[in-house]
Amino acid sequence: MAESRMDQQQVYPLPQNYNAKRDQESATTMDSDELRRKKCMKYLAYFAAFVVFQTGIILLFSLTVMKIRTPKFRVRSSTFESFEVGTVADPSFNMRMNAELGVKNANFGNYKFQNSTIVFFYGDAAVGQAVVRKTKAGWRSTKKLDVEVDLSSNGLPSNSQLGNDINSGFLTLNGRSRLNGKVELMFIFKKKKSTNMDCSITIGLADKAVREIKCK
Ligand SMILES: *[C@@H]1O[C@H](CO)[C@@H](O)[C@H](O)[C@H]1NC(C)=O
Repeated sequence: MAESRMDQQQVYPLPQNYNAKRDQESATTMDSDELRRKKCMKYLAYFAAFVVFQTGIILLFSLTVMKIRTPKFRVRSSTFESFEVGTVADPSFNMRMNAELGVKNANFGNYKFQNSTIVFFYGDAAVGQAVVRKTKAGWRSTKKLDVEVDLSSNGLPSNSQLGNDINSGFLTLNGRSRLNGKVELMFIFKKKKSTNMDCSITIGLADKAVREIKCK
């Protein structure tokens, strides 16, 4: 009986027919139970669709906006203010380097970091260091920091490879640092995040310029 009524509804969808049928339907309690059950099913279906939709939104949000990404800390470029290099027989170097560092923050929130230091190594020996002042990298942007560092071979052991490197015309230094800070997602959620720098800088001795910077 319910089926045949549904067929009628589809065949005659005119307003006056509809009103007439509505009266018929409310005439018996069985019909109104049926109607209530259908309504209930409809709301359940709406609710299920809403839950699925909401879950999708939350999932998408947590995979994009709310995801914490590790900021990238690297040496972007370097120039020299002074540049003195010894000979193969008497190897040494003394340079003042201006390095531009970059903190690339891909998060949807600021990255605030503490004071730190950047140390430059020749082989295993530290040959210079500079202070990295605390500041912040804005959301989805790169903060550029300039540091000035005096690099000197004075502390190197006498058996170092420096003579060979001067002979080859290239000197490779490693810049290492670590930033400790916090990512502030949407200005609300804070999460501690550290980032390491490990960059190798190849310097051409003939042209007294940086030839290549590679960061891990
Ligand atoms: C950070 O470094 C600057 C300059 O070196 C110093 O004045 C400041 O007190 C330091 N801040 C902290 C929290 O150590």
